[in-house]
Amino acid sequence: MRLIVTENYEEMSYSAAQETAKFIKENPELVLGLSTGGTPLGTYQELIKLHENENLDFSKITTFNLDEYIGLEPKHPQSYTRYTWDNFLSKVNIQKQNVHIPPGIFKDEKQVLKEYDEKILEVNGIDVQILGVGGNGHIGFNEPNQFLHPNTHITNLTDETIKDNSRFFLNIDEVPKQAVAMGVGSILRAKHIIFIASGDEKAEAVRKTFNEKITTHCPSSLLQLHANLTVILDKKAARLLN
Ligand code: PGA
Repeated sequence: MRLIVTENYEEMSYSAAQETAKFIKENPELVLGLSTGGTPLGTYQELIKLHENENLDFSKITTFNLDEYIGLEPKHPQSYTRYTWDNFLSKVNIQKQNVHIPPGIFKDEKQVLKEYDEKILEVNGIDVQILGVGGNGHIGFNEPNQFLHPNTHITNLTDETIKDNSRFFLNIDEVPKQAVAMGVGSILRAKHIIFIASGDEKAEAVRKTFNEKITTHCPSSLLQLHANLTVILDKKAARLLN
């Protein structure tokens, strides 16, 4: 594991974007795993700048998102489809057919889950996964539990996640209760993971991720098993690490 501790959120974002760009330059056909939420926004802004100012090329990049809320149309302001296009992909030269985000509305649940896993397999898995962490240690929407799912699945969001994410919605009742989520198997099979966290509110989750025993009750602790992990934290998120 490589650990980079930065002064603040802006530097964390810059560093994560530089790291991602390095992989893109090495492999223009990279399969990039994308996360959502507040943490990666700055990273995406920096990647857009690299595209605009240094011609970082996304034309052959393939992306897979970690998750989508069940019940939200792609156009819903809080859907992760909308988030990903508005905050990142519409501003770089990605090809639409190379973008993969699970649907939040569907008829055939089994088919949706199977297809998402098949698409990941078809491209031989994710090369580089950009990954945040929830205050409760979730990665993607793999919530703390007695058992975790290896593959794409439907998950119930915990009360803590619903509360955390209510800041993006008009009120807590609007937060969906379920999501389609990539499994921990697909995440851990990513050839490289860029783990990012920022702020005091993530310090305890970061400590449990790296300084405690591995447990499904803190899904991010499974990252200790990963051989190619780059951890980029601002100093507030790193403050409880040994
Ligand atoms: P956040 O979410 O970036 O909005 O804090 C991170 C996560 O839940 O993975």
